[in-house]
Amino acid sequence: MTSTKVISEEKIAFDINNIRNDFPILSRKVNGKPLIYLDSGATAQKPKQVIDAIEKYYSEQNANIHRAVHRLSQDITTIYENARTTVQKHINAKHVHEIIFTHGTTESINLVATTFGKKFVNAGDEILITEMEHHSNILPWQQLCEEKNAVLKVVPINSEGELIMDEFKKLLSAKTKIVAITHTSNTLGTINPIKEIISLAHANNIPVLVDGAQSIPHTKVNVQELDADFYCFSGHKVFGPTGVGVLYGKEEWLRKLPNYQVGGGTIKTVSFAKTEYADIPLRFEAGTPNIEGGIGLAVALDYINNIGFENISAYEHELLEYATEKLSVVEGLKIIGTSKNKASVISFVIDKIHPYDIGVILDQLGIAVRTGHHCTQPIMDKFGIPGTVRASLAFYNTKDEIDELVKGITKAKQMLR
Ligand SMILES: Cc1ncc(COP(=O)(O)O)c(C=O)c1O
Repeated sequence: MTSTKVISEEKIAFDINNIRNDFPILSRKVNGKPLIYLDSGATAQKPKQVIDAIEKYYSEQNANIHRAVHRLSQDITTIYENARTTVQKHINAKHVHEIIFTHGTTESINLVATTFGKKFVNAGDEILITEMEHHSNILPWQQLCEEKNAVLKVVPINSEGELIMDEFKKLLSAKTKIVAITHTSNTLGTINPIKEIISLAHANNIPVLVDGAQSIPHTKVNVQELDADFYCFSGHKVFGPTGVGVLYGKEEWLRKLPNYQVGGGTIKTVSFAKTEYADIPLRFEAGTPNIEGGIGLAVALDYINNIGFENISAYEHELLEYATEKLSVVEGLKIIGTSKNKASVISFVIDKIHPYDIGVILDQLGIAVRTGHHCTQPIMDKFGIPGTVRASLAFYNTKDEIDELVKGITKAKQMLR
């Protein structure tokens, strides 16, 4: 894997070999072959800057935050709160207290579904999601609807895997309490016209929660420009640690939401007669948080900002086009998700071969892809398939790796037919 790519003349930092050297795992072998990691949509690999920050935390800085007067605790509290500010700046939130640390996208969505649902959703109300949602942006709303006797409405997608906007407009109604929608589909790669969707919903006074799990690693998100009411993402998909995520919420909404989990860290004073709760964001952060996660996430965001999203987007777009072209000519291969506006995710099926079997043979060749329904069973139902093979690309992948993928698929076809 020696291809060198310098995308932008000003930002010569984007040299693919230098980038790959930042990710220790990329130099390991799997089944005796160099690892080709094409599963960044499931979880991204971590640069050594993130790994070093976590090691440093445990070897030099470990203490609990917001709790003690001793030096270690004071220092790590400052570092952790600075990490919150890094997240705020990264997504251009207006206030730092609009950033809530959670365990990941799934918890962020559950937090909103539970608290918003408790206060604002009643029998007969409607919640609008889409056919391309990850299960994590279906089940919390489905459960809420069951509990409240509310109705889950689903915007359909077309055969390219794009949202049918006319249907979206038709489904927005006086009964709609919230729209919950993915920015980018983890299975189809479709990038939704999220700004337009938010503006249409707001014209009807409906708030919008955006599942940003798959957009944050690929694009610069500006929550104020989008005017999102809630925006959720996970640290591990954006080159940071697992077990940490973010819920951005507009201050006006967060202040209106009732408590989620309560316990240590969420209070001002406690007595058996009455408890006074802390202000946002701490009111939503019960118990000792994932301290090293928050710190590592900030380091990951600094890392990608240093490369620059212009460079990342241009390079990933080039990889996507290359992979689409190479895969499209493989006989019997059909790409699922052909939206005009796509992130670097390619799902495909091959005539009469189960995706799982292809995944197993690719693994023998050191190639890591994801196979199955990708936690989006309704998409599989829509396309009438059991699952897909998914190659999800990040800025550390190369065209050589895509060539290896194509060779691997050709070999798998020969073996399985
Ligand atoms: C679009 C989307 N939403 C939500 C999730 C859930 O993320 P997590 O498991 O990090 O909570 C994923 C994970 O694959 C995803 O791709």
